[in-house]
Amino acid sequence: MTSEEITDLLTKAYVDEFETMMNYLANAIVLDGVHAEEVKESLEEDVQEELEHAQILGERLKQLDESPPGSEEFEARQTNLQPPADTTDVQSVIEGVLEAEEDAIETYRSLVEAASEANDPVTEDVAVTILADEEAHLTEFRGFEKAFPAEQ
Ligand SMILES: [Fe+2]
Ligand SMILES: [Fe+2]
Repeated sequence: MTSEEITDLLTKAYVDEFETMMNYLANAIVLDGVHAEEVKESLEEDVQEELEHAQILGERLKQLDESPPGSEEFEARQTNLQPPADTTDVQSVIEGVLEAEEDAIETYRSLVEAASEANDPVTEDVAVTILADEEAHLTEFRGFEKAFPAEQ
């Protein structure tokens, strides 16, 4: 018997991955300047990884007899990750990414906990695997955050 908390968290995580992908993709395209190149490349790579996360989460929902949501359930939340009006403002994108990754980490930690409590090791494994990727994304962008002001 799957807890509703688990399917709710899986659904939330799935939707969040799409919003993250949408904003990483836009920022990877739109940023300008010599300082932007590394960040753009990293965002492009992360788009692929976030897509994989969404696929894994969708498959798990299906295995739990639920359907991954379509676009009508989508509710945008990432105010700070919108492509900046000043396309050389790499710093604001870095801040937005840090926020999105911290948010994702919180969701996957909750999912690990809920799955463990519900004795659902497969969902727990999914959450731990994705959590590790998000922590790597966060670490990479913390590095950009540290390096960036010094370069300017
Ligand atoms: Fe992700
Ligand atoms: Fe991520």
